[in-house]
Amino acid sequence: MIRSVVRGVGSALPRRVLTNQEMESMVDTTDEWIVQRTGIRQRYIAGEGETTASLGEAAARDALADAGLEPGDIDLIVLATSTPDNTFPASAVDIQNRLGIRHGAAFDIQAVCTGFVYAMTTADLYIKSGMARRALVIGAETFSRILDWNDRTTCVLFGDGAGAVVLEGKEGQGTAGDQGILTAHLRSDGTHKDKLYVDGGPSTTGKAGFIHMEGREVFKHAVGMITDVIYDAFNATGIDAGDIDWLVPHQANLRIIEGSARKLGIPMEKVVVTVDKHGNTSAASIPLALAEAARDGRIKRGDLVLLEAMGGGFTWGSVLLRW
Ligand code: ACO
Repeated sequence: MIRSVVRGVGSALPRRVLTNQEMESMVDTTDEWIVQRTGIRQRYIAGEGETTASLGEAAARDALADAGLEPGDIDLIVLATSTPDNTFPASAVDIQNRLGIRHGAAFDIQAVCTGFVYAMTTADLYIKSGMARRALVIGAETFSRILDWNDRTTCVLFGDGAGAVVLEGKEGQGTAGDQGILTAHLRSDGTHKDKLYVDGGPSTTGKAGFIHMEGREVFKHAVGMITDVIYDAFNATGIDAGDIDWLVPHQANLRIIEGSARKLGIPMEKVVVTVDKHGNTSAASIPLALAEAARDGRIKRGDLVLLEAMGGGFTWGSVLLRW
């Protein structure tokens, strides 16, 4: 069977770093509160000329260079974002144009913080079916542009950035020993849609709107949902927590990450954490973390890597792959 193998990974961050100390002068908060509740110490904020598409393009170019490929080698672009440059066309098409690609297909996927897991799963299905051979899967966000900078309960949590992987179809044996994506599991439950949402949109207010979140409600559901969908991955493959080399979670909050790892029995030494440096970059957080851990030599060829995310909708999901 065809497996979708990660051939390259890349990332891009805005130029400007915003520290917790700087946040103290902007809203009624403290570095201590933010670190204790979330683990976040700083985040990157997009400046003039930096957008979801420009960050996504930079991450895509970085991933292509890592893969040793040219833009023309790509026949599918799936961009996970909730902060596109325009209502339409899809920012994926903008990135396709910036890369000079005129063939294949490009589209956006919107599953908020679970966006990258949804995008990986979608690209995997295209590759496995033979509809695409090489895909750029990108997570890119500029959440700073939909934050209410007077609302301390949300503005301290998020940051901007982008990450990307190149997936390539390769023949596998159909066993858990194969390289590439081994299993993927997606969930959503719209009964929770009002717990984390943006109060605007083209069909309602005609404006982009601002983020609102019932933080405690999100927190209450997060660990259970994340671990449920990871057990789905274990049941589908016969792999268990002890086999995992790296857990690369969505980086929303260190307490959610630690709670999930504890429940699964995965030691924190095997968990990639970047939330301290990036804040919550929504769909960009997993590929940003993957890029960091692959570049610094932690994630190596053959390693079993488990991705998971949960976010607005609620949506949640997992992808288990061999690097
Ligand atoms: N600085 C200082 N005080 C603050 C701040 C702040 N930035 N924000 C809120 N507070 C205050 C509140 O006003 C409240 O004060 P009060 O007791 O006088 O009313 C107090 O801190 C406690 O507020 P809570 O909201 O109960 O704080 P909690 O311990 O739940 O932490 C947090 C808030 C960090 C948002 C937490 O609920 C959380 O992590 N939730 C998960 C949500 C999440 O990570 N979402 C990310 C997006 S979703 C996703 O990606 C999965």
